[in-house]
Amino acid sequence: MTTIVVAMGEKNEIGADNQLLWHLPKDLKHFKDLTSGHPIIMGRKTYESIGKALPNRTNIVISRKKNWFEEGILIVGSIKEAVKFAKKIDENIFIIGGGNIYEQTMEIADKLEVTLVKAQLEADTFFPKIDPKIWKLTDEVFHEKDDKNQYDFSFQTYVKIETKS
Ligand SMILES: NC(=O)c1ccc[n+]([C@@H]2O[C@H](COP(=O)([O-])OP(=O)(O)OC[C@H]3O[C@@H](n4cnc5c(N)ncnc54)[C@H](OP(=O)(O)O)[C@@H]3O)[C@@H](O)[C@H]2O)c1
Repeated sequence: MTTIVVAMGEKNEIGADNQLLWHLPKDLKHFKDLTSGHPIIMGRKTYESIGKALPNRTNIVISRKKNWFEEGILIVGSIKEAVKFAKKIDENIFIIGGGNIYEQTMEIADKLEVTLVKAQLEADTFFPKIDPKIWKLTDEVFHEKDDKNQYDFSFQTYVKIETKS
């Protein structure tokens, strides 16, 4: 199973100036619960935005840069290579962004774990449109904002609709 994990606003916005747009500790915990123990795949810019390897997960970073090495991460030159390595480690792999990588992996993903943040914010990076002919919403859990989580949001699960050819 190849799962995309994303937190996006109501305009599909996901980031600005290589950072996230909100502070939602409940979403960070959700992300940790989903991905811990499984390989995670990300673009070089998302890795730089996080600033370190995330613990208890194999961090696979995609880049076209040559001769770049960094402690604690596996650097690969293509999405295909990232998926190949990840699948050797575990059947369940997670693609964690950013916008550029999401655009290129919607086709190979089986599932989307979306945090839909109930806000419309200025952004420079967006998630692709979720086509209802391709993706079926199978689960939605609503969370209200509180003193630590600045917006209302929903955890949504989408699965790819099987098409018979
Ligand atoms: N809200 C969320 O859930 C979420 C999640 C993740 C990220 N984000 C946000 O998204 C933004 C970053 O996204 P982004 O679209 O700018 O960048 P990105 O997708 O994280 O990374 C893009 C980089 O990945 C490498 N790359 C992409 N496709 C490749 C390919 N086919 N083969 C080899 N390398 C490839 C290139 O690295 P090189 O330039 O090194 O070659 C490219 O510059 C930030 O604002 C971040 O905070 C949000």
